[in-house]
Amino acid sequence: MKCATGEVHVWRIALDSPVISMKTLEATLSDEEREKANGFRLAQIRERWIAARGALRYILATYAGSKPSSLVFKTGPYGKPHLNWPVIKIPFNLSHTGSLALLGISSEGRVGVDAEFIHSIVELEELSRRLFAAPEADEIMALAPEARLAAFFACWTRKEAFVKALGEGLHVPIDQFRVTVRAEEPPRLVSVGWNESSRWSLADVGEASVAATIAVDWLAPTIRRFEFAACSG
Ligand SMILES: CC(C)(COP(=O)(O)OP(=O)(O)OC[C@H]1O[C@@H](n2cnc3c(N)ncnc32)[C@H](O)[C@@H]1OP(=O)(O)O)[C@@H](O)C(=O)NCCC(=O)NCCS
Repeated sequence: MKCATGEVHVWRIALDSPVISMKTLEATLSDEEREKANGFRLAQIRERWIAARGALRYILATYAGSKPSSLVFKTGPYGKPHLNWPVIKIPFNLSHTGSLALLGISSEGRVGVDAEFIHSIVELEELSRRLFAAPEADEIMALAPEARLAAFFACWTRKEAFVKALGEGLHVPIDQFRVTVRAEEPPRLVSVGWNESSRWSLADVGEASVAATIAVDWLAPTIRRFEFAACSG
């Protein structure tokens, strides 16, 4: 598998799907990953994490030309995983939400993906004002009540995909940059409150009931979608 220049691949991974053999996926994990999986008390969370990590290994292995179990990951200073072996640059990022994971793989630069199941939020205004830049929260609250939830999750995943591409997680001041807010509006970075030299592209990769955004630090990516449905045995 190859991510040609200018392409970003988005893999959809159904974590509870019976076509994924847990045995096969779990067999690819490192000792450290198994230890992490065993730290989850709830069986469902543990199994979904194993399914996501195993699928990540299977998919990346096809790009790296290696066996899934031979991949070695390292994490950056704020926890973002990257491939340490084989020595080949494959920018990737994973997001899980409930029974779904999305894996973004970019032909170059940095990539971040975030997916969130859309669910009702009682304190939507309070949360918007606490998390987002003031103009973003104002814009959400100016919408018709029935459009606010979709806008909230569009805004959330756009911001989160950007900070995940940066790799700095919570260390990025989330209210110091702005994205487009309305769900039907193309995702875009509107402004950044620091000196940002890269030119970012955001794309909507959501589906029914799921808001999802992918971000890369270069222009005009061609997004290609794939479904991970494999593994028997
Ligand atoms: C890790 C973080 C970056 C994303 O977490 P999340 O949205 O809860 O979870 P997701 O499923 O989307 O992403 C988790 C995956 O991202 C990857 N990841 C971990 N740390 C990362 C980082 N610093 N940057 C990018 N990716 C990271 C890992 O692959 C992880 O999967 P794993 O747990 O199986 O190893 C989160 O801790 C964070 O800092 N969030 C941003 C801050 C915020 O407040 N956002 C509010 C909404 S605007």
